[in-house]
Amino acid sequence: MISIKQINEKDIDLCYELDSNTISLWSKKQWTNEFKKEDTKIFVLLITNLVIGACVFQVVLDEAQISYFVVNKKFREKGFGSHLMSFLIKKCEKLNLKKILLEVSNGNVTAEKFYSRFDFSTVGIRKNYYKDGSHALLKEKKLTTK
Ligand SMILES: CC(C)(COP(=O)(O)OP(=O)(O)OC[C@H]1O[C@@H](n2cnc3c(N)ncnc32)[C@H](O)[C@@H]1OP(=O)(O)O)[C@@H](O)C(=O)NCCC(=O)NCCS
Repeated sequence: MISIKQINEKDIDLCYELDSNTISLWSKKQWTNEFKKEDTKIFVLLITNLVIGACVFQVVLDEAQISYFVVNKKFREKGFGSHLMSFLIKKCEKLNLKKILLEVSNGNVTAEKFYSRFDFSTVGIRKNYYKDGSHALLKEKKLTTK
């Protein structure tokens, strides 16, 4: 059974393990800092009790900024990322937020395609932003608030 739940610091190992097995973005200390940040929300996607995806976003005024979005390699291209993103969009709309922002490398073709599918458009570019010399594309999705 697929479910999505918001987690707190006691579940930090779930995120750290998923991250270590995927994109290795943050150390355990960095994850701890994320959990401590005010207005940061962390959601995990589960199949029964197995965590297969996670997203981290921070609410700043009327915007959500996604800083982390990952699906476990074994479960990609099966619609799970879309399920998590659809949930996140609905959540942000319920919070009356106006837009969702994120940054992605111009070399990450898969993520670019993924975000385009959800009508994220490129609104800025930070040249040579990443260590490998690739550029950071600033993406934005406008939300329909009720
Ligand atoms: C990006 C990511 C979250 C997508 O998750 P996913 O569960 O595989 O996505 P879905 O199965 O829901 O795919 C949705 C759409 O994304 C695109 N997509 C997903 N994987 C793709 C691939 N390997 N190649 C091209 N397009 C792809 C397609 O448009 C797909 O729609 P389609 O199935 O109708 O063709 C996943 O690949 C991932 O975790 N990547 C590593 C982390 C990352 O890059 N995160 C984003 C940057 S912060």
